Amino acid sequence: MVYVPIQVERLTPHVGAELHGVDLSQLLDERVFKLVHDALVEHGVIFFRDQHLTPEQQKAFGRLFGELHLHPAAPGLVEGHPEILVIHADEHSKRVAGEEWHSDVSCDPEPPMGSILYMHELPPVGGDTLFASMYAAYEALSDPLKRLLEGMTAMHEGEHVYRGRYGVKDEGRVFPKAEHPVIRTHPVSGRRALFVNRGFTTRIVQLKRPESDALLQFLFRHVETPEFHCRFRWQERSVAFWDNRGVQHHAMWDYFPQRRHGHRVTVKGDRPFYRA
Ligand code: SIN
Repeated sequence: MVYVPIQVERLTPHVGAELHGVDLSQLLDERVFKLVHDALVEHGVIFFRDQHLTPEQQKAFGRLFGELHLHPAAPGLVEGHPEILVIHADEHSKRVAGEEWHSDVSCDPEPPMGSILYMHELPPVGGDTLFASMYAAYEALSDPLKRLLEGMTAMHEGEHVYRGRYGVKDEGRVFPKAEHPVIRTHPVSGRRALFVNRGFTTRIVQLKRPESDALLQFLFRHVETPEFHCRFRWQERSVAFWDNRGVQHHAMWDYFPQRRHGHRVTVKGDRPFYRA
């Protein structure tokens, strides 16, 4: 068998790597799958250039990592592919998906493990996506604050994020909410990661409201620390695959009124836990 050399080029010390020599339209053999899987767990987000994927091929790639997730609020816009979330912005957009630092659908009791975004169309400049390592964010905290947070849980809610968001009737609809540990243990790497985000996390359960608000504001600002980040400059047909268990991301909407369009496939995850 002839092995195509696969190169892993790290973007920053904490997060992100570009993988060269992988064709995601082919069903990956065991060796390549393991390499991609391990790179995702190690780097938190991995990038691929010049991919040519049909919706079926993108979904088949996602299914190698688990069952596909159906978004709790967004309408399926690609006929026959309810698992594809369309990421779109143009001159009519009032907002775009993922403008706040967040981990995808963390309001689900079992939030997605990963998300695979395939970009079809880009503005002439701008529209990058930023990623932040939640391992680095956790590790940078002082020991007393780590110990305090390790005993805590927080509410993550979809209501304020999704209600009215997609221009579809949603009266009477109940959006997910869930209580998760503030520090989670990654089920594969065993590393600890900060797991609160500005998009979905509304309060720390064990604290009084003003205490919770102050601590969450501090943690949301902490996530914004540039040394935890990498920034991905998309090209048409790039793919980003991020691990929602260990990174957050932020879509930069600096290109209005230009168009940006892509398809996201999201892989189901399991219930976050903390292991001492
Ligand atoms: C998202 O999935 O949150 C959107 C990311 C992006 O558009 O870059």
